[in-house]
Amino acid sequence: MDYTPLLSRYDTMKYNRCGRSGLLLPAISLGLWHNFGSVDVFENGRKIIHHAFDNGITHFDLANNYGPVPGSAEENFGKILSKDFTGNLRDELIISSKAGYLMWPGPYGEWGSRKYLISSCDQSLKRMGLDYVDIFYSHRPDPNTPIEETMMALDTIVKQGKALYAGISNYDADQSKQAIEILKSLGTPCLIHQPKYSMFVRWVEDGLLDVLDEGGVGCIAFSPLAQGMLTDRYLNGIPEDSRAAKPTGFLKADDITHEKIDTIKHLNDVAKQRNQSLAQMALAWLLKDKRVTSVLIGASSVEQLSNNLSALNNLNFSEAELQSIEKIIAN
Ligand SMILES: NC(=O)c1ccc[n+]([C@@H]2O[C@H](COP(=O)([O-])OP(=O)(O)OC[C@H]3O[C@@H](n4cnc5c(N)ncnc54)[C@H](OP(=O)(O)O)[C@@H]3O)[C@@H](O)[C@H]2O)c1
Repeated sequence: MDYTPLLSRYDTMKYNRCGRSGLLLPAISLGLWHNFGSVDVFENGRKIIHHAFDNGITHFDLANNYGPVPGSAEENFGKILSKDFTGNLRDELIISSKAGYLMWPGPYGEWGSRKYLISSCDQSLKRMGLDYVDIFYSHRPDPNTPIEETMMALDTIVKQGKALYAGISNYDADQSKQAIEILKSLGTPCLIHQPKYSMFVRWVEDGLLDVLDEGGVGCIAFSPLAQGMLTDRYLNGIPEDSRAAKPTGFLKADDITHEKIDTIKHLNDVAKQRNQSLAQMALAWLLKDKRVTSVLIGASSVEQLSNNLSALNNLNFSEAELQSIEKIIAN
């Protein structure tokens, strides 16, 4: 299969400024945590990437450990880049990677030391066959490493030209404030924070979004569909090919409780009244907040991705819709 990107690729996507930086990100970005590993079907992943780029998704998010096996999502993405995104197409892409979780054995294979971050970034570049990533993240705060050391490692990576921007993920509001100040003092402003945020997981509303807004830092919400729960995937049980049914997934069948299904059904009714799928409504609900730069979705098929892209057709909510959503989630 040969791939030629569509000329119409920038016609419908919405691009949002990432904090107070010069960088625009697509309102919908694609993550390669699941569905792109060595256990997955390579051609399916490749088709999803093509469909994403053909529809204006310029941002692809990876991490050292994505797979399984760890590292294989970066290797597969590297193969797709070298086959299909040759020439100047690299300049149309925003590629991110991260280090923080366990990647290799021994004391230097996880957390936030300078030793780990810099060597992990080098490994990621090799796996993807890239000279640089656009964004490099500290994937999680490390309680046992001075935050200054972790931020100085990000600064070094940027100054070495291995990443264009620095980001943080899973840092709470106070840790983020500190990280933002340190990075600013080093001359490498924090571009973006990547927290878990969806209708079901709302901790960011309790301080973090304000810290990011004040600091001029963008926010990209990961698992915006609660790993598939905020879609029609589980309305009638657990399909065999779903994440919750797979041994390698992080969503477990036990997470799909009767109470959750009940909530999902009620949310699905509100979505229907809006002429949207539940997935589209869940994404629109996040994007209505101007502090949210992008929603970072996953997809196991082109059809899912296509459905999610149509969220952009209706990002507005009436007061009554917002209230009924709040009531359903609170129950
Ligand atoms: N920074 C961090 O610590 C961190 C942690 C987790 C994730 N992330 C990032 O966030 C990205 C997205 O995470 P996620 O995959 O959990 O996101 P998500 O969008 O909440 O869930 C994606 C899953 O939902 C299902 N789905 C998606 N669209 C659908 C649709 N229209 N209809 C029905 N089902 C649909 C699919 O599940 P099935 O597979 O069942 O089809 C898909 O794999 C990751 O790839 C990664 O880049 C970051």
